[in-house]
Amino acid sequence: MKEKLEQIRDEAIALAKKASDMNTLNDVKVKYLGKKGELTSVLKSMKDVPKEERPKVGQMVNETREEIENILEEIKTSIETELREAKLKEEVIDVTLPSKKNKIGHRHPNIIALEEVERIFVGMGYEVVEGPEVEYDLYNFEKLNISADHPAKDEQDTFYINKDIVLRTQTSPVQARVMEQGKLPIRMIAPGRVFRSDEVDATHSPSFHQVEGLVIDKNISFADLKGTLEIFAKELFGENTKTKFRPHHFPFTEPSAEVDVTCFKCGGKGCRFCKGSGWIEILGCGMVHPHVLEMCGIDPKEYTGFAFGVGLERIALLKYEIDDMRLLYENDIRFLKQF
Ligand code: DAH
Repeated sequence: MKEKLEQIRDEAIALAKKASDMNTLNDVKVKYLGKKGELTSVLKSMKDVPKEERPKVGQMVNETREEIENILEEIKTSIETELREAKLKEEVIDVTLPSKKNKIGHRHPNIIALEEVERIFVGMGYEVVEGPEVEYDLYNFEKLNISADHPAKDEQDTFYINKDIVLRTQTSPVQARVMEQGKLPIRMIAPGRVFRSDEVDATHSPSFHQVEGLVIDKNISFADLKGTLEIFAKELFGENTKTKFRPHHFPFTEPSAEVDVTCFKCGGKGCRFCKGSGWIEILGCGMVHPHVLEMCGIDPKEYTGFAFGVGLERIALLKYEIDDMRLLYENDIRFLKQF
């Protein structure tokens, strides 16, 4: 009997040692220790053992069972360890590998330029206001002294919704709207989209952006306008920038001027960028026409003011040295990510 048990034990151990996964190990357990297993069948054959030897044989069977159980447990632990290590190896992360770069958005040059313009004027106490893009002819033209026969009203320039409503061709109508509200003094800028029936090319687009400026108070003079725009130009293009006011005509300002700044590329000497002149035009401006003040309910004998209008794309193109306006509208990520 002893030999038989030893044989079972050795067989079980030999088989268990060959097992490399849990299922095989479990099969071994069932084969030797299970209800229909070999050890159990030994127990079942106890009835053939003489009575006085039974306790001894019983003890031997139990010892064998324990031995096999211990070995199985050991092997189970080592298989588990192996599996765990294999899994860790598989999941190992090389922390020195370069990470995947997430694509992040970029601010559009127009927005950067607008924020810059807003920063400068808000710093001087201006309010930022907005007006509608679909505008009455009354505000876009009439109240700005642009009479019915003015060439700017030509259908070739203006998108008409109907005879009274247009897509605004300029941000200047916001001036009229703010003046009409009657809260004085006024110190505001009005950025926004404007529309003109233009063909697309390197310097034109049917939709672009302007920033309007308006100051109305007692005793506002052309000197205030000059000083303000000089500060604006220096803040925008650098401390050494000089400004030049050229007489011009706008229906809603009198006198009117266009403002040039010294070329920030060559400092005024003349280069390819400024087409040799040393100067670059940046905006239109003037003293608000007394008739415009009157039409908007402000007494021109008591109040005066100045206004200006800047093309935002023009500022962005100049400041970031972009030579084709179409780049601003194509949203090519390779272009935008430079900013
Ligand atoms: N609205 C003008 C344009 O679109 C620009 C302009 C000129 C605005 C002079 C002004 C101004 O406020 O005073 O060309």
